[in-house]
Amino acid sequence: MSTIEIVTSLAYLVAAVGFVVGLHLMNSPATARRGSQLSSVGMVVAVAATVAKLADNGGITGTGWAVLAGGTVLGGAVGLRSADTVKMTAIPQLVSIFNAVGGGAAALLAVADFVRIIGTTNPSIPTRVMVPTVLDVIIGAVTFTGSLLAAGKLQGWVPGQPLVFPGVRVVNAALVAVMLGGGAYLVSGSHSGWVLLVVLVASLGFGVTMVMPIGGADMPVVISLLNALTGTAVAMAGFVIDNTALIIAGALVGASGAILTKLMADAMNRSIANIVVGGFGTGDTATVTASAGGEVRQIAVADAAIQLGYAAKVVIVPGYGLAAAQAQHEVAQLATELEKRGTEVSFAIHPVAGRMPGHMNVLLAEANVPYTALREMDDINSEFPQADVALVIGANDVTHPAARRPGTAISGMPILDVDKAKHIIVVKRSLGHGYAGIDNELYTDPHTDMLLADAKSGLTELVAAIKSLDA
Ligand code: TAP
Repeated sequence: MSTIEIVTSLAYLVAAVGFVVGLHLMNSPATARRGSQLSSVGMVVAVAATVAKLADNGGITGTGWAVLAGGTVLGGAVGLRSADTVKMTAIPQLVSIFNAVGGGAAALLAVADFVRIIGTTNPSIPTRVMVPTVLDVIIGAVTFTGSLLAAGKLQGWVPGQPLVFPGVRVVNAALVAVMLGGGAYLVSGSHSGWVLLVVLVASLGFGVTMVMPIGGADMPVVISLLNALTGTAVAMAGFVIDNTALIIAGALVGASGAILTKLMADAMNRSIANIVVGGFGTGDTATVTASAGGEVRQIAVADAAIQLGYAAKVVIVPGYGLAAAQAQHEVAQLATELEKRGTEVSFAIHPVAGRMPGHMNVLLAEANVPYTALREMDDINSEFPQADVALVIGANDVTHPAARRPGTAISGMPILDVDKAKHIIVVKRSLGHGYAGIDNELYTDPHTDMLLADAKSGLTELVAAIKSLDA
């Protein structure tokens, strides 16, 4: 082993430790920032080691170096700028675009390596390289088009609801047959560039037909699944070009993405297979339906302020609407005002509130709400009966009592037991439904008052009204 090989192997080990410890630190909001920084340092070490290896190898031309440098600067600048300027509510689509880039790059790497080898005079690719090459092309290409479509759906460039056309299952089966058949042919020893091209095109097509029938409500889970696939494709690329850092980083992304996908599906009481088959959810578009039957009571800001201002215990339930309104600072201010008056305030966090894992934690952390005030669903649910007021802000499905009954779109999904509080105030703009697309009977509960307002302006008025209570 040459000195450079020993040094780069050690550098890859350091990078791997950075990735693993970084991931571990992301377990808690208090250490997540450090985890992200440590993983980034690990990636810089891995890239630097790879550049050193390439320089030592001497096989790259001046143009090659210029392309590498240009790509790094351009890609780095676009990545930095988009991550810096993205709105919190648009993070799922940004992640999806990053998945597309990762999966696409991994597939291209395998194609380039294959083309390079079959261009030599006596091409020979051993099975241990051909298997990951085929898997890399298939998984990477499916992830590329699937992630682009998923990002388009979330951004509203493509209709968010499930899109199905007659015969979609037959088309899917045919595409899978081509992918697997072509892949098996290549692995069996034939090095045909044309067959690889057919497999690539079928995989690109399958990415589209796989994501098309999946509806708005399930898109975050699908994005997590595509993230797991990106990691797997990257790990395969590592086997193709024999790069340890790619194998480790890809395996970590693949495994953590798979675990996250399972956790999200469990929190919605759905199976991953059921989500991939599609047909659930409506997206964010329809918001003007009336609540199912019963009388809805509206409350004025001044009356809501009195109820909250004289409560001993208030549980705040944030949801997607709080994020959409960017009202995190207003809700933090409301909590502070109530605490000044001696009220005990906690935030009840549902695992799938919002549109991405940890959405509410990140949002409230941005407004410096202490982590200790954030209580997870299993922990807070037993306290709702003692709460004088459950203040639901822009949350809907995660509070929906119909989840406790069989036969509804959200049956079996664990919910926050807000209807067990002594009194409920719901702040949202209308009686419209949430992501699951069903009217919420909480709004006609005799203990519920609706404060129909945008979360930001409603909370601003509420804070002012609470401040003026003793004036
Ligand atoms: P939703 O059920 O989607 O309800 C959000 C509510 O916010 C809507 O009913 C909407 O009502 C209200 N809203 C929107 N903009 C608002 C604004 N500016 N001011 C005030 N209210 C506003 O949200 P949720 O309770 O957080 O549940 C999350 C849903 O997403 C669940 O169905 C969950 O399964 C799904 N999901 C989440 C994830 C993750 S990881 N978080 C992943 C997959 C799926 P109005 O239009 O009447 O205001």
